[in-house]
Amino acid sequence: MKYFLDSAKIDEIREAYETFGIDGVTTNPNHIMNSGKPFLTVLGELAAFVKEKDIEGWEKFPISVEINPHLDDADEMVAMGKKIAGMCPNFVIKIPCTQAGITAARKLEQAGVRTNVTLVFTPSQALLPAKNGSLFVSPFIGWKESSGESCEQYIQDIVDIYGNYGYLGKTEIICAAVRTGKQIADCAVAGADIVTAGLQVFKDSFYHPFTDYGLAKFQGAWDKTITE
Ligand code: E4P
Repeated sequence: MKYFLDSAKIDEIREAYETFGIDGVTTNPNHIMNSGKPFLTVLGELAAFVKEKDIEGWEKFPISVEINPHLDDADEMVAMGKKIAGMCPNFVIKIPCTQAGITAARKLEQAGVRTNVTLVFTPSQALLPAKNGSLFVSPFIGWKESSGESCEQYIQDIVDIYGNYGYLGKTEIICAAVRTGKQIADCAVAGADIVTAGLQVFKDSFYHPFTDYGLAKFQGAWDKTITE
């Protein structure tokens, strides 16, 4: 399963890439706002980063960039998507799962621009992006679980539906808004392609107090071992 970092902060992206080799990045207008930098400045930093690391191209290191969320006309969405995609070969255009968004994603894919259909909350929403050949679909996990829903079956249903129709591996399933190590494991058990989460979520997911306990125990043993 691939790990994407959900962030628009270049220092976090660098750390996650250099520390545990993330496979890509997802951004959204919220993350861009939280970076404290203007939209185009952030895109410029992302483009410079992939050049520096020699990972240019969406096939090597996809970076999802969301279009203006105010747009509700498919042609305007397409125009903005093409503009963003032209700025860096790694950019995948993130588009909401609305009627206009689905139309725009379909047209962008036909024009050779890769897309990520986002804000997906049901298996039926996940079907059309795959049918239309989007590169990614982003079912949200954390938001649903925050409001009391359990997501294991939801992820499993999307994976099974994609399996039924040969979409698996063609439209990759990015489990988004992942908040916990348990959710990461749930996504992996279901066979999702990718999880995207913040840096701290990933860091927490590979922490366990018994690892520290065991390390201290083995250090003690090491120190008490008779030396030759
Ligand atoms: C996914 O691609 C989204 O950017 C993201 O997960 C949105 O949710 P969050 O910012 O609440 O985590």
